[in-house]
Amino acid sequence: MEVAALTLLLLLNSLDSTSARVSLTVSPKRSQFFKYERFLVSCEEDGSGDEEEAEGAGWRVMKRMTDGEVFPCPSSCLISAAFPSTDTGEYWCQTGPGETSNTVNITVTGGAVILDSPVLPVPAGDNVTLTCRQEASTCNLTADFYKDGVHVGTRSTGTLSLVGVSGSDEGLYSCKVCGHEESPRSFLAVRAPPREQSTPHLSVFTLVRPLVVGAPYLLSTVVLGLIYWDRTRAKRTRRGRQACDDVVMEMAT
Ligand SMILES: *[C@@H]1O[C@H](CO)[C@@H](O)[C@H](O)[C@H]1NC(C)=O
Repeated sequence: MEVAALTLLLLLNSLDSTSARVSLTVSPKRSQFFKYERFLVSCEEDGSGDEEEAEGAGWRVMKRMTDGEVFPCPSSCLISAAFPSTDTGEYWCQTGPGETSNTVNITVTGGAVILDSPVLPVPAGDNVTLTCRQEASTCNLTADFYKDGVHVGTRSTGTLSLVGVSGSDEGLYSCKVCGHEESPRSFLAVRAPPREQSTPHLSVFTLVRPLVVGAPYLLSTVVLGLIYWDRTRAKRTRRGRQACDDVVMEMAT
């Protein structure tokens, strides 16, 4: 019975360790940058918000450039002066054994316009603002926005608001402002929010787990205790009876 309990314990512990996740974050939080801009890509342990911890766990940022070449950074990638050909590409976190995080695409442009869009997938139902930015804002902000190459709107504010995003809002977005060339395209990803459902389930599991793990131990201890108690009682009764017989015999003689 103890073996079964131990196996269960090990199984549950392994479930725990696989739930520790790392995600990639970009600061400032956008997917497009002007040439010579500065940005930081780092790995963060989910929940803790602690970069040091991710570093301790052996995570490092990997970068695949547009020509396919892959470069490892230390735990974070600080790009102090971005360059289109070397800093445009896919970034992700990886451990030595090959465990990987989410991947993000970052575009560095030599052009005068970028689209400021979320770098990470947006939870369904959230409001998203896309901003068309000029490197030097010399003319008015009126911008045209495109989704998958199709014009979706003109905004005098230079920002396109998407209210309560859903899967149908996913796509490659870009913008145009001030007669400049079009910005690069970035993919807006929308994710279904499964977290709300799994959280109460997880807490029930966490509550019940000690009981599940402890029950076989408790049960076997109680059973063994009962057996022991039963035996000593039987012995004591026998001994008591013997003593009684001795007295009777002594009295008789
Ligand atoms: C990044 O870009 C590549 C090439 O355009 C594409 O295949 C990939 O799906 C993109 N990844 C993400 C997370 O958008």
